[in-house]
Amino acid sequence: MLKPLLVTLLAAAVATAAVAAPADTGNTRPAHLQGAALLHQPEQMSFGVYYYPEQWPQAQWQRDFDGMAKLGFEFTHMAEFSWTYLEPKEGQYDFSWLDHAIALAHAAGLRVILGTPSAAVPSWMGQRYPQVYRVDEHGQRHEHGIRAEVSLTDPVYKAFVAKIVTAMAEHYGHDPRVWGWQIDNEPSAFPDFSDSARKAFQDWLRRKYGTIDAMNKVWAGSFWSTRYGSFDEVLLPNATLAGEDKLSPHALLDLARFRADTQAQFLDAQAAIIHKYAGKRQWVTTDYTNVSTDTDPRRTRDLDFPTFTLYPVAGTNVLGGDSYAIGKPANLMEAAAYFRPINGTFGVMELQPGQVNWAAINPQPMPGAIRMWMWHAFAAGASLLATYRYRHPLRGSEMYHEGIVGTDGVTLSRTGREFTDTIRDIKAFEARLDPHAKLPARLAARYTGYLWSQDVFWDLEIQPQTTLWHSWAYRNGYTLAVQTTGAPMDFISEQDDFDRYPFLIAPAYQMVSPALVAKWKRYVEQGGHLILTSRTGQKNALGHFPEGPWYAPILDLIGDDVDGFDMLPPNTDGKGADGIVKADGKTWTWHRWADILSPRPGTQVLATYANHYYAGKAAATTRKLGKGTVTMIGVSTDDGELERALVRSVYQRAGVAIEDLPTGVFHDWRGGYDFMVSYNPEPFTFQLAPTAKLVHGTTPLAPAGVLVWKDEPK
Ligand code: GAL
Repeated sequence: MLKPLLVTLLAAAVATAAVAAPADTGNTRPAHLQGAALLHQPEQMSFGVYYYPEQWPQAQWQRDFDGMAKLGFEFTHMAEFSWTYLEPKEGQYDFSWLDHAIALAHAAGLRVILGTPSAAVPSWMGQRYPQVYRVDEHGQRHEHGIRAEVSLTDPVYKAFVAKIVTAMAEHYGHDPRVWGWQIDNEPSAFPDFSDSARKAFQDWLRRKYGTIDAMNKVWAGSFWSTRYGSFDEVLLPNATLAGEDKLSPHALLDLARFRADTQAQFLDAQAAIIHKYAGKRQWVTTDYTNVSTDTDPRRTRDLDFPTFTLYPVAGTNVLGGDSYAIGKPANLMEAAAYFRPINGTFGVMELQPGQVNWAAINPQPMPGAIRMWMWHAFAAGASLLATYRYRHPLRGSEMYHEGIVGTDGVTLSRTGREFTDTIRDIKAFEARLDPHAKLPARLAARYTGYLWSQDVFWDLEIQPQTTLWHSWAYRNGYTLAVQTTGAPMDFISEQDDFDRYPFLIAPAYQMVSPALVAKWKRYVEQGGHLILTSRTGQKNALGHFPEGPWYAPILDLIGDDVDGFDMLPPNTDGKGADGIVKADGKTWTWHRWADILSPRPGTQVLATYANHYYAGKAAATTRKLGKGTVTMIGVSTDDGELERALVRSVYQRAGVAIEDLPTGVFHDWRGGYDFMVSYNPEPFTFQLAPTAKLVHGTTPLAPAGVLVWKDEPK
C-alpha cells in the first residue's frame, strides 16, 4: 500500500505534468481520495479494452484475453452489465464465472477494471419490485428490457445496489488483480416522476429552504397562485405537461439540481462501499458521457477521479467536407478541459473503436481519425484510455457496433488495426515525457480559464428566450474561439483560483452573486483579462432579476449601461429580419442575441449595431481596470466569426503571443512536448518555431493528422 505522503507526491506530479492540470485547481477531493496516484507513474497512458465474458463461450475466454494482451492492451474491463449473472436469484450471488475470467485475464498479463452492474437490473427484480423502474413525464412506469431505466430514489433499488456492491467489494476489494472500479454506466439523471422521487424532492427542498415560505419566495409563489402551503404539497415540476416556459423557472432549476445531487449521491454511495473494503488498494471512478448535461461531476465526493466516454463520429458534420468522418471537433478538447481540473487526473473510459450502431447515421471513421483521437487524449493528459469493445457482437441491439476484432472473434477490424498500431506508437513515445517538465512560459502566458457552472447552464436551458439559443453550441463557439489562439484552457468553477489564468472567459454566465463580481473585479485589478458575453450577469444568484437596471450586478465592472437586448426571427425565407453589426470596417449578421450597450466614459467600443432602432449603439466594448481589462461581447453573430475576432483581440491588446489555428486544430502540451491534432477537413501548414524539433508527423498537418515537437531551447 502506498504511504500517504508518497500518494500526495505522486498525485502532485501527475497534476503538474499535464498541460492544464495545476496542482490544486478545483481539487475538491478529500486527501484520502487521491487514488489517481494508484494508476501508474505520471506521464503514462494505460490502454484497455471492454470485454463481456457472459456474451461468449467460456472456451474462448483465454484466447480472447491472450489476444488483447498480444495487441498491446494492458487492462480489460468486465462485469458492467452482468447483474443477472452475478445475482441470478434474489440474494444468491454467483461470482464463480467472474473469478474464472479474472484469473484468465491475469494469466494473460492484463489488469482488470470491474464495473458495478447497477445500470442493468435482472428481470426478477422488476417482476417482484416494479418500483425499481422510473416513471416518465407521462406517468408511464418503465420496464425490463434495456438498461438505465431505474429510479435512483427508490429505496428497494438502492438497497439491492448496496447489497451487490458490498458483496463484490468484499469479494474483490483485496484482490491485487483488480486495478480499479467503474461505477454504473454513463450516469445520467433521467426524469423520474415516481412517488419516491417526489418524496425525495420534498425532503431535498425541506433541507435547502427550511421553511415553505422561503421556498415560495424563491420560486415566485405569488405568481399565478402557485405558492405551496407545505413541503408535502410540492409536486415534481413537469414541463412536458405544463409547457416548457410556463412553470416556475426557479422550481425547474431546483429540480435539475435535485436530480444531479441524487445522481451524485448514488455514485458516492457505491464508491464509499468499495473504499470501505478496498481501502487505497483500488481506485474508483465512473464513466461520464463526454457531454455531461444533467449530471455534475463536481457534486460527487467519493470518486478518485473522473473518466468519460467519447464517440466523435456519429453522423454529424460540424466543419463540412469530410469532417463528419474525423469527428465532432470540440468533444475531446472540451471533455478533457472539463474533467481534468476536477482533481488533475482523468481517463477516457470508452473511445469509439470504429463504426457504431446508435446514431441516426453511422459512418465509418476516416482512416487516421482513431489514431488522432488517441494522440489527442494522450496530449490532453489522459491517464488511461479504454475502447468499447474487444469483440464485434454477433447478436443483440449493438450487433452493428464494431470492435477491435471482427465477427470471427480473431481478425483485427480495419479500425482495430489502427487502434492497436497506435497503442504501440504511443507506448514507444511516452517514456520520453518528462514528469518534472513545467508548462513553458509561451503557453502559460495565454493560459485561459473558462468559468462554467452546471446550474447556470440549466438556467439558460430553462429560459432560452429564442429557439435560436442553444447553450451547448454557444459554449462550443467560445471554446473553439479560444482554441484558435493555441491557449491551454481549463473549465473552472467559481470556487477555483482565477489568478493562475491570465485570461478568464465567462460566456453567458447568467447568474452571479456579489461575491463572484467582487472576485472578478479583484482578478482584473491585479492584471487579469476578463471576457464576459451576452446574458452574463443578467440575474442574481437566485436566478431572479435584481431590482435595478438591466445587468445591474456587472455594470460597474464592464463600464457600460445596458439599454436592453434584442433577438430576431430568422430570415431564411425572407419573412424574418437580419441584424447587422459592424467592427473594423466589416459587417456580420446576427439573430440570436444582442445586448444594447451604452459605454460609460473610459470604455472603448469594439463593435457597433448598424440597423434597427439601436443603430449606432455598442455591441461589444472593452475597458482597462487596474492592471487588467474587462471585455463585454454583447452580440451573438450567426457564424460566430466576430466573437472569435473579439476574443483573439483581447490577447493581442494584452501583448500576448497567440497562434492563428483553423477551427478544430488543437495545440496541447504534455511532459515537455507540444502536440497538434486536426479535426479540420483541410490541410493546415503550421510554422514551427526555428527552435522546434519535429519528432512525429509531417507538415502540412493533414485532416486527422498528428504533429509532435519539442520546443524548449536549453
Ligand atoms: C456507450 C455506452 C456503452 C455502449 C456504447 C456503444 O455510450 O456507455 O455501454 O453502449 O455506448 O457505442
